[in-house]
Amino acid sequence: MDAFRIRGGAPLVGEVRVRGAKNSVLKLMAVALLAEGRTTITNVPDIMDVDTMGQLIGRLGATVAFDRAAGRLDIDVPAELEQRADYDLVRQMRASISVLGPLIARLGVADIALPGGDAIGSRGLDMHLAGLELMGAKVTSQHGYVLASAPERLRGANIWLDFPSVGATETLLMAAVTADGTTVVDNAAREPEIVDICRMLVAMGAGIDGIGTSTLIVTGVPELSPTTHHVVPDRIVAGTWAVGAAITQGDVWIRDAVSSHLDIALGKLTAAGAEVSTESDGFRVRMGDRPASVDIVTLPYPGFATDLQPQFIALNAVAGGVSMVTENLFESRFKFVNELVRLGADVRIEGHHALVTGRERLSGAPVVATDIRAGASLVLAGLVAEGETIVSEVHHIDRGYDSFIPDLQRLGADIERIPTPADGGSPLG
Ligand code: EPU
Repeated sequence: MDAFRIRGGAPLVGEVRVRGAKNSVLKLMAVALLAEGRTTITNVPDIMDVDTMGQLIGRLGATVAFDRAAGRLDIDVPAELEQRADYDLVRQMRASISVLGPLIARLGVADIALPGGDAIGSRGLDMHLAGLELMGAKVTSQHGYVLASAPERLRGANIWLDFPSVGATETLLMAAVTADGTTVVDNAAREPEIVDICRMLVAMGAGIDGIGTSTLIVTGVPELSPTTHHVVPDRIVAGTWAVGAAITQGDVWIRDAVSSHLDIALGKLTAAGAEVSTESDGFRVRMGDRPASVDIVTLPYPGFATDLQPQFIALNAVAGGVSMVTENLFESRFKFVNELVRLGADVRIEGHHALVTGRERLSGAPVVATDIRAGASLVLAGLVAEGETIVSEVHHIDRGYDSFIPDLQRLGADIERIPTPADGGSPLG
C-alpha cells in the first residue's frame, strides 16, 4: 500500500485542469445499462472508482473499454443483463447501488448486496427502496442482499423524499424513465451531477421536466437509445484545488471547472481573504496573507457541499480566528479530525459541530486517510505543516482524485508517492 510524503511550506502556484466528476461518471456508467448498444462517455477521470464500476457493469454483462489518456469510456450493453451485484464490489464502493435502478427497469429484477456503513456514516437505502415500492416493485432483504422485483413493468408514482438524497433521486430517475406513466419525484436532489444524469437520460430519449429543480417529472418511454455524453467537471476536485491555493497562500488557475457550481465555497474563500476571479472556463484563487476563519454549514446543493467540509476544516485549522463548522449530512464525517489533531490542529467536536481554533502553524506527522475527502484534507494540511507529513492509506484518495500527485508537483508542492513505511501510520481503532 502506498503513502504520500509531503514536506510543507511551498505555496501552490500555476494552473491545473479538472476532469469529469466522480459522482457523475459512476452513475452515468449505470445509466448506460438502460440502453442496448454502445454508449460513449468522455471527460472521464482516471480514478480507481471508475475501474471498480467498470468491473461491476462488466459482471452484469457490459463490455467496457477505458482509454485513460483520452478520458473516454466505450460501454457496449447487450440485450440480456445479469441481475446480481456482488458484495465484493459493492463494499469497495457504495455507488455500486446505482445499478439498482437500471437493472429493475431493464430486467424487472435486481439483486444487490447491501453496502452497509462506511467511514463517514451509516448511509441508509430506505428512500431508494420506498420509492421503488411506490412504483410497484416488491423489495425484500436476505443474507445481506436486497432483492427488488417488478414482474409487471414499473408504473409511474408520486414520490416525496424525506430528504433530498442524491442516491435515492438517481435510483428513482433511472427506474422511472422507462416506467409506465408519469413519475413525480418531489424534494429531489439538485446537485450538478443530478442535472448531468438528467441531460444524458434526455439525450437517450427520456422525458424529464424540472431538471435542476427539486421537482422532477419523468414521463416514461418504452425504451432508450445509446448516446455520447461529456461528464460535468468535478466541482469537489475544483473546490479542493481552490482550498489548496488559499491554505498555502498561493495563486492557482483552476481550468475546465464551473465556478457557479461552487458559489458558496468560493464566497467563503473570499470571506477568508482570497481574491477569486472567474472566466468562462474556470477561476483563479489567490491568497496573499494568512486566511481568516470562516464558519461553514453543510447542506444539500445549492448549500455548502459536505464533500468540501474536511478541506475547509484544514483551512480553518491554520486561519486567524475561531470558526464553527456544522455537518448536517453524515454523522461520522468528523472522524478524520483526530488525524488533523495529530498535525497540531486545535479542533473540538460537539455532536455535529466542530469548533476550530486557528493555529499559526501545523507540524508534520504520520497520519491515516480514512476516506476520500478526509485524505484530501490531510494532504492540504501537510502542505502547510512544518517538516514531513506521511499520509497513509492513500488508496482512498486514489478513488476520487485524478493525477493528484503530478498536479501538486507541477504547482510546486514537495510531495511524492512512496510505499507505506513500517511506522508510517497511527493505529486504526
Ligand atoms: N440517506 C438515508 N436514506 C436513503 C438515502 C440517504 O437515510 O435512502 C441519508 C444518508 O445516510 C446520508 C444522507 O441521507 O446521511 C445523504 O445521503 P445521499 O443519498 O444524499 O448521499 P449519497 O448518494 O450516499 C452522494 C455522494 C457523496 C456525497 C453525498 C452528498 C456519490 C457516489 N456519493 O452520496 O460523495 O457526500 O452524495 O452530497 O455520489 C464523496 O464523493 O466523497 C462522497 C461521500
